[in-house]
Amino acid sequence: MRIGHIQLANRLFAAPMAGVTDRPFRQLCKRLGAGYAVSEMVTSRKDLWTSLKTSRRADHEGEAAPIAVQIAGTDAAMMGEAAAYNVDRGAQIIDINMGCPAKKVCNKWAGSALMKDEALALEIIEAVVAACAPRNVPVTLKMRTGWCASEKNAVRLARAAESAGIAMVAVHGRTREQGYGGDAEYDTVAAVKRAVSIPVVANGDIDSPQKARTVFAATGADAIMIGRAAQGRPWIFREIAHFLDTGEEAEPPRVADVKAWLIEHLGDHYRLHGEFTGVRSARKHIGWTLRGLPGGEAFRAEMNAIDSCEAQIEAVAAWFDALAESAPTMPTAPGAPTAATH
Ligand SMILES: Cc1cc2nc3c(=O)[nH]c(=O)nc-3n(C[C@H](O)[C@H](O)[C@H](O)COP(=O)(O)O)c2cc1C
Repeated sequence: MRIGHIQLANRLFAAPMAGVTDRPFRQLCKRLGAGYAVSEMVTSRKDLWTSLKTSRRADHEGEAAPIAVQIAGTDAAMMGEAAAYNVDRGAQIIDINMGCPAKKVCNKWAGSALMKDEALALEIIEAVVAACAPRNVPVTLKMRTGWCASEKNAVRLARAAESAGIAMVAVHGRTREQGYGGDAEYDTVAAVKRAVSIPVVANGDIDSPQKARTVFAATGADAIMIGRAAQGRPWIFREIAHFLDTGEEAEPPRVADVKAWLIEHLGDHYRLHGEFTGVRSARKHIGWTLRGLPGGEAFRAEMNAIDSCEAQIEAVAAWFDALAESAPTMPTAPGAPTAATH
């Protein structure tokens, strides 16, 4: 699997998720089997580039290559500049967000809203490709199946994007109008795959090794991308890899390993976000990891009252040690959340 000239480790991708896939989480996913992980979206608004939030999003210190940065915006020239700016700061691949509603960053609906205005979408693609091509940086596109059920234009847009120089397209099998409701469908992803010769990535509702195999078979996609099911369960990537390789389910991870991964993740998380923000934003990762586990809910409530890094780590370690005494391997695989949390 390649994106332009860049070779990837495998065909299992972590989806970009604002507020979730910061550098520490991407690194963890990559360590646990993801071949590729895209940053949270970075705004094309120059006035925000130096803000703490955006600079944290553009922090790639120590991240395993390739570094892929997603940009969001509605103005072609600004998107071109944003691409160049991020390449200068280490991006090796630029991804254009046409897959997720991104109102906050632009004061206008960006992201998937662009699918409604194909002319503007293409103008943006051309500007970003023009900024990246001289730097030998491939540009990818993340989109949905279309605007609404009667306007599924993913195939047309993917063809136009390919002609304009896009190196890979990821398709979330829902329309923009659907939000996260209903089920993702894969027929449109399969149609996109048949229509273009660049790599196509299937995304939406892939939450188990079995589902991964079904989606590969249904779409012929070159890769799959996993978002919500990796929250609190980043080892899903290696579970999928194991199942695809052997046809057998991997053993659940050991509680001691999950504890070690989570504690290492928390350390990285605090280093990036600082104590005040870090302790608070880490709660969601801890909560996701505990989802469905015996006593997890009660611990979550207790943990929300903790506001120092040291105490949070200690509490998490003690909780997992207690769990390990009754169950050496993770008791049940916690389910993925059903709705977007942003
Ligand atoms: C919390 C959250 C944040 C997201 N942020 C982004 C984003 O920044 N850029 C983007 O293209 N998609 C974003 N998405 C959409 C995901 O990348 C993905 O397309 C979607 O969740 C469907 O995949 P899944 O069913 O595997 O979660 C986000 C989704 C969630 C749940």
